[in-house]
Amino acid sequence: MQGKTNVAEIELTALLECLYQHSGYDFRHYSRSSVQRCLAQHLQVEGLSYVSELIPLVLYRQDALQRLLQCLSVNVTQFYRDPFFFRALQERIFPVLKTFAFFKIWHAGCSSGEEVYSLAILLDEAGLLDRARLYATDFNHGVLAKAREAVFAEEDLDTRQQAYRESGGQGVLKQHFHCRYGVAKPAKHLREHITFAHHNLASDGVFGEMQLIICRNVMIYFDRQLKKRALTLFHQSLYPLGFFCLGDKESLDREMESAHFELVDKRARIYRKQSVNMENLAVEHAGMFTEPE
Ligand SMILES: C[S@@+](CC[C@H](N)C(=O)[O-])C[C@H]1O[C@@H](n2cnc3c(N)ncnc32)[C@H](O)[C@@H]1O
Repeated sequence: MQGKTNVAEIELTALLECLYQHSGYDFRHYSRSSVQRCLAQHLQVEGLSYVSELIPLVLYRQDALQRLLQCLSVNVTQFYRDPFFFRALQERIFPVLKTFAFFKIWHAGCSSGEEVYSLAILLDEAGLLDRARLYATDFNHGVLAKAREAVFAEEDLDTRQQAYRESGGQGVLKQHFHCRYGVAKPAKHLREHITFAHHNLASDGVFGEMQLIICRNVMIYFDRQLKKRALTLFHQSLYPLGFFCLGDKESLDREMESAHFELVDKRARIYRKQSVNMENLAVEHAGMFTEPE
């Protein structure tokens, strides 16, 4: 008999294929170890023993499908996550953004919005928000709805006050929100500069010409092939010399970095698109990036 140890892998492949065929959500190129970790927890919560037991649930029960998607998409986020990153943005990137009459920023994988509101507040304090359009995208409709609704717990703002100050915030975080009955909503002018949209890095295309793209703690869950796809997308969506930011446990591999991006700040994982001439770029693209089949 062959491959007893592969049964778990067969179940996992079947589940991810069903999920893709049935809902369009493609986790087939997510890192296997992170998917397995999520599923182990999810099975416990659902009171199941085998991954294959999730298949009929995914196919016939909308509520179970939503719970599984929620679990697989890992939506952890907070205001001013990694203050040193926000400080580096102000020191390294804000002076460049100041030279534009109008600029565009893309937060890819924005989750419930804390990251994009964090940046909008700092842009506002720097007098730059009126020149900015922030696009915040995610493939999870549930978190996007939360981000649009923009209803946060007032106590979260107290908890994140120090991180906001360490990030370079100049006042009191709460001043940027309307707080009532324990609920906090970002000020209207902050919300007016942000457009939330559905976008899937595994299947959707280029997203405008951005001066800055922030994709933090998203590709950490991707396998090499999907990461390459997303990086190609980001490179093509950047203005020449535009900035690109990753999370603090992520980095570009060396060939990608040397051919297409220049490292600006190692700790904050800030890169800048290289200004190569377009002809070279097309040749490099043909050789370097392969689209997933
Ligand atoms: C861990 S959260 C990071 C949120 C925020 N960027 C931060 O660092 O605080 C990862 C987000 O990426 C989103 N995501 C995962 N795969 C995606 C994909 N293929 N396309 C778009 N968003 C994706 C998830 O839904 C989730 O909201």
